[in-house]
Amino acid sequence: MESRQSILIVDDEAGPREALNMILKPFYGVYNATDGNQAMDMIRKTDLDMVILDLKMPGFQGTDILREIKKEKNQIEVVILTGFGSLKTAVDAIRLGAADYLLKPFNVAEIISVINRILAKKKQRDQMTDFLNELGGMVGYDSTLEEVRHSLTNKPALIGYLKEVFEQVMEPGDMVQPGNHLEFVRVLSETLENKDPFTHGHSSRVNYYSNLLAQKMTLSQAELRDLQVGAYLHDIGKLGVDTKIIYKEGSFTRQELLLMRRHPEIGVDLVTPIGLSQNVVSIIRHHHEFYNGTGYPDGLKGDAIPVLTRIVSTSESFDAMVTDRPYRKALPLKEIVDELKQCAGVQFDPDLVRLLLEIIEEKGEEILPKRFQAPRSVTA
Ligand SMILES: [Fe+2]
Repeated sequence: MESRQSILIVDDEAGPREALNMILKPFYGVYNATDGNQAMDMIRKTDLDMVILDLKMPGFQGTDILREIKKEKNQIEVVILTGFGSLKTAVDAIRLGAADYLLKPFNVAEIISVINRILAKKKQRDQMTDFLNELGGMVGYDSTLEEVRHSLTNKPALIGYLKEVFEQVMEPGDMVQPGNHLEFVRVLSETLENKDPFTHGHSSRVNYYSNLLAQKMTLSQAELRDLQVGAYLHDIGKLGVDTKIIYKEGSFTRQELLLMRRHPEIGVDLVTPIGLSQNVVSIIRHHHEFYNGTGYPDGLKGDAIPVLTRIVSTSESFDAMVTDRPYRKALPLKEIVDELKQCAGVQFDPDLVRLLLEIIEEKGEEILPKRFQAPRSVTA
């Protein structure tokens, strides 16, 4: 059975403490502390998810405890207890990193909803961190595709979780909010990018340019969502490509080129157990197809390349032009415009090039990424 999340209640007054115990014990593991010293002791020794903290106590002040928690154990969520008279202190506490505050006298429904919301979010974040640590372990090694696939398929819990994540991302209807599962996809893609310092931020920028193009087209909510997920995950197959090849400066041998060019198929293999939508799978498999049919892996031509995929491949190549690469500097905007025109109908869908040129016309230099953070150091 999954272990319960745990909460420490810190209040010198017995009344509120008892009330909170009664409300929270059916759902969570609950600990109590009656003063600051006892609280700090328990915070250091116990594995806690949340501290509910009275700000006004004799001795060790609530705000000091809050500061200590944020310094020593930042992953613990803190909720402040306060009366109407000291609302300003509560607001200050939120500035110091508290997640929310509860007003005395208590409103039971409000307490449950505030605490459930914060702890549900924390659980999600913890799962994501675990997942990324596991994934980071895999990304860090020069694993063969077989090993990566083996590690993934051998973790049914992980696959189940990813499935759940993507189904929620896919759920049509509600707007994408920051902090929901799309955030997960974003962090996942950043983890992948750690494997290749020169593409740091690439997926976010591809998502940004894809979105600019999408705004000039008529796409459904579900298609917009697929486009976002696809933009973030299009290069997931690089997980299965040897880091030495990805880092290589200078030209690839034929053998290396063949391996590099397998990343779209590897990507599809990796996401197959998750059951992503067909649109997203197409983006992953076909983002290196050329409009004239000379791309890879399948040599698809023209409208046979799904439209969302054409958007991502145009955006991806545009991003390659506007950023520095190991083998050349970013191109000036004027040259980029010329190159886009030349490649219309060859590499890119001419209609999308026309839209992209409109966007460049409207935004000018503003469309270029801020020049340019040095690649992050790679710890893998
Ligand atoms: Fe790619």
